[in-house]
Amino acid sequence: MKQYMIKGGQPLRGEVQIGGAKNAALGIIVAAIMADEPVVIDNLPQVDDVKVLLDALDGIGAKVEHLDENTVRIDGSTVSDVIVDDEYIRKIRGSYYLVGALLGKYKKAVVALPGGCQIGSRPIDQHIKGFEQLGAKVTIHNGMIDAIAENLEGSHIYLDCPSVGATINIMMVAALSNGKTIIENPAKEPHIVDVANFLNSMGANIKGAGTDAIRIRGVEKLHGSEYSIIPDQIEAGTFMLAAAATGGDVYIKNVIPKHLEAITAKLTEIGAKVREYDDYVHVVADKRLGYANVKTMPYPGFPTDMQPQMTTLLALSEGVSIVTETIFETRFKYIAELRRMGANFNVEGNAAIVTGVEKLTGADVVAPDLRAGAALVIAGLAAEGITVIDQIHYIERGYEKFDEKLRNLGAIIEVGDSDDERELQKFRFKVG
Ligand code: UD1
Repeated sequence: MKQYMIKGGQPLRGEVQIGGAKNAALGIIVAAIMADEPVVIDNLPQVDDVKVLLDALDGIGAKVEHLDENTVRIDGSTVSDVIVDDEYIRKIRGSYYLVGALLGKYKKAVVALPGGCQIGSRPIDQHIKGFEQLGAKVTIHNGMIDAIAENLEGSHIYLDCPSVGATINIMMVAALSNGKTIIENPAKEPHIVDVANFLNSMGANIKGAGTDAIRIRGVEKLHGSEYSIIPDQIEAGTFMLAAAATGGDVYIKNVIPKHLEAITAKLTEIGAKVREYDDYVHVVADKRLGYANVKTMPYPGFPTDMQPQMTTLLALSEGVSIVTETIFETRFKYIAELRRMGANFNVEGNAAIVTGVEKLTGADVVAPDLRAGAALVIAGLAAEGITVIDQIHYIERGYEKFDEKLRNLGAIIEVGDSDDERELQKFRFKVG
């Protein structure tokens, strides 16, 4: 099994290029098969979740061609199957978009129930409600979602909670349904807007993405397009906090600063300097940072996907902070790992009370999920001594060339093999 070996204590310095948004990419590459013509997608992040979904598209007959590292051409006109199931697709969350895309285009989809990070119960009732309101019959059997429709008719759908996945799934089906659909209380994350823009670039008629109501007028078919995915807000935020936690000075390039406002606001509140430019931000932490209270909320609130990284930064800051997780109920599992590095937390219900310590110390820890894994990397970069992080396949699901980008900023981080003790010994010898 692959692991990260990190020697902490180096302030990150320099510049890092942020890749395309993983959560936008998952919706976009699947929506691409709804077009009758080939679609070219650029700024595609090279992360494992994207690879799994591209393989799944290939598996049902779509032609997937890599034009370069971050560009893919997808031709969905050759799709020959609406059943998607394999052990990989069961592990990722974005697989649920296959239901929306196949149902919208072929009026039938049979897809393995989505997996994803174990951060809460993660129901899909709002997706199903949306499909049913658009005229589909949905059943769950043998671990599969089975959706079928004779006709898809536009509808007025009110989401009980602003679910990212449900909003995108309903937009996809409604894009090819008859008549008009309104989604009330939709998610407003930047990747919702990006998927809507992409669907529109293929000829869909979607208005209001990013606002309190999305209005979709169904069209008969979608055509080819060329599209570039927006920068990854969470990757950018992770590097911003890694810079702050190590007392660094980093230019985070190729970002949309507006998407980072919740993170910028918290960093500024605790004493880091953040300067925003057109397409980059500059983060400097030249003193020990202070405390803050943080509550995760749907966009434009503080993103739940940045909660573990922020909690880690606060674990090193002066004073007592309270972090409240309102989106996913079991998203504090990594705290046990951070305690092994000397962090001081009390978890009460959905709140973590974080008493800042002056330093963390390196330890052997295990990444429990994607974003918590990134948080442990931040802890390792800031800690004194050597940290070894196991189960980094979680991190590779969502961060492109993470170790390489960190090394370019001066971090001492290498990928090792947990089955080969000598690699760790060599690393220890090398870094002293
Ligand atoms: C997506 C993201 C994930 C991010 C999350 C919140 C992808 C692949 N994953 O996950 O990285 O952490 O948004 O920004 O894009 N809910 C229901 N019923 C539903 C759907 C959701 O009750 O049918 C609840 C969930 O339990 C959760 C909240 O709504 O409390 C938000 O979930 P949702 O936005 O759907 O998250 P995901 O799409 O799973």
